[in-house]
Amino acid sequence: MGHWTVNQAGKSIVLIGMMGAGKSSVGRCLQRRTQFALLDTDEIVASKFGLSIPEIFSKYGEQVFREAETEALREMGPDKQTIVVTGGGIVLCEDNLDFLKRLGVVVWLDGKEETLFERAARSGNRPLLKRGYSREAFTRILQARLPLYAKVANIRVDTSVLTDEEVAVAILSKLGKLGRNWRPGSPIPATAR
Ligand code: S3P
Repeated sequence: MGHWTVNQAGKSIVLIGMMGAGKSSVGRCLQRRTQFALLDTDEIVASKFGLSIPEIFSKYGEQVFREAETEALREMGPDKQTIVVTGGGIVLCEDNLDFLKRLGVVVWLDGKEETLFERAARSGNRPLLKRGYSREAFTRILQARLPLYAKVANIRVDTSVLTDEEVAVAILSKLGKLGRNWRPGSPIPATAR
């Protein structure tokens, strides 16, 4: 994992991690606390197709979804200060790793496998978990992705025993944004990048 103080060109806080890590909810908490705009690759892709994510998978297949996901990420500029929420598979495309880093601080929301699995299984909205859905499949997907999350992340937060708000606070605290001088909407301090 790279050091988060030295390699950030962009201004955004970018959330990555497995399904069930809480990226969307934590993203909303971060948005409320920072007043940055919120961009979500799944939402961008869904609105581009005018379909839900499961509908895109079943109508066009995973590959088309992945291409649209990459496109959504590529179109995000490094200049705007945003909270970026990504789909769990964003790291599968090698090019995306650079696009993610270019946007700002990459935060990996991790957690105990069992906890991630339980949370992910709760929502019926995940096409990858529907086909031959099993605990083993989840493990396989997670194991393949762990090194990719680790490779691109600047910081990692274990979400297993934290609420979404607590995760947001932990992130902002790691970024130095809860310091005395920081105000919502002000830039990430230079020392935090
Ligand atoms: C996916 C995760 C989903 C969504 C799509 C594929 C994945 O997003 O992008 O179903 O490959 O892990 P979440 O991580 O928000 O569930």
